Amino acid sequence: MPGDARPLGYGETRGNGELRGHAPAEGTIAMIEARGLTKRYGDKVAVSDLTFGIAEGAVTGFLGPNGAGKTTTMRMILGLDSPDSGTVTIGGKRYADLAYPMREVGALIDAKAVHGGRSAYNHLLCMAQTNGIGRKRVDQVLELVGLTEVAKKRSKGFSLGMGQRLGIAGTLLGDPRVLMFDEPVNGLDPEGILWIRNLMKALAAEGRTVFVSSHIMSEMEHTADHLIVIGRGKLLASCTMAEFIASASGQSVRVRTPQFDQLGKAIVAAGGTVTNGAVIGELSIQGLDAQRVGDIAYDGGVRLHELTVVGASLETAFMELTGDSVEYHAAVPGAPVASFTGGN
Ligand SMILES: Nc1ncnc2c1ncn2[C@@H]1O[C@H](COP(=O)(O)OP(=O)(O)OP(=O)(O)O)[C@@H](O)[C@H]1O
Ligand SMILES: [Mg+2]
Repeated sequence: MPGDARPLGYGETRGNGELRGHAPAEGTIAMIEARGLTKRYGDKVAVSDLTFGIAEGAVTGFLGPNGAGKTTTMRMILGLDSPDSGTVTIGGKRYADLAYPMREVGALIDAKAVHGGRSAYNHLLCMAQTNGIGRKRVDQVLELVGLTEVAKKRSKGFSLGMGQRLGIAGTLLGDPRVLMFDEPVNGLDPEGILWIRNLMKALAAEGRTVFVSSHIMSEMEHTADHLIVIGRGKLLASCTMAEFIASASGQSVRVRTPQFDQLGKAIVAAGGTVTNGAVIGELSIQGLDAQRVGDIAYDGGVRLHELTVVGASLETAFMELTGDSVEYHAAVPGAPVASFTGGN
């Protein structure tokens, strides 16, 4: 918020409630702390005055539409990009001032940043040797990520999932207390996604700080304890997962009916909002409860094939909050049904 750079307390609200802080509770320090972080590329402001704290012992999800500034923020945390203004620290120190960076922070920003001609083992051994880490730890992390059997194979023959596991093995080498992953589940199959989810939770349960960006809302909903949401480089929310979902406008009612046109008009006339569902005849209704929708259908002689109450999800909360912040729009099913707004 302009004019007030004071870090927010846990669950604290500032101004109109748009920003809910989750700096850790009194007495604990945020492991990663950003203050007024700003980065420009030419005229483009990629990251704008970001202030947030990331607590230890939890998974914090980092969400935002494409181009929102997530990767840029993570690169600044790691000192790979320097901010135009503002600061970011890890355990109170700038990344560049950490004595043994790999032992403090493990980060996976680009899983393809591996020399394809090297075996998984040699790739990790190179990283270990340049950081004063022993061979035994290489074997341990290969085991941890399930790559022991292919350790001597060249990584260029690896599948996407195996490459991702190798990248993650690298982040774990120094046994760091802070882990950052940029889109770690992109392109992975369900088993790979589940593995990463469990790994992140286990790392957080050991007291580590886990900061992870993702586009897959259903996945984040199951993984993250806290969220930081940005749009067009600006902070939109910093709060717990539960707080974030609760902030969405709540329930909707899903109906399926062959008389969707007739029902849609009746719902709008009664003050509801109607959105087309994924298939023809499916409508999503906001602003009226299920009983009212059922009564309206009955009064109008509309035959219903489904009437379901749908709770708010991370996805709906995210779409609501970031709707104005999306830079790259595509035509999507689910856009409001213009023809119903006439109401007759
Ligand atoms: N090296 C660069 N030079 C110029 N512009 C850049 C550079 N890196 C990022 N940007 C711009 O900064 C903005 C933020 O980019 P960034 O990659 O951080 O977004 P993101 O949230 O990670 O997006 P995505 O979800 O697509 O990965 C974008 O508009 C991007 O085009
Ligand atoms: Mg990115």
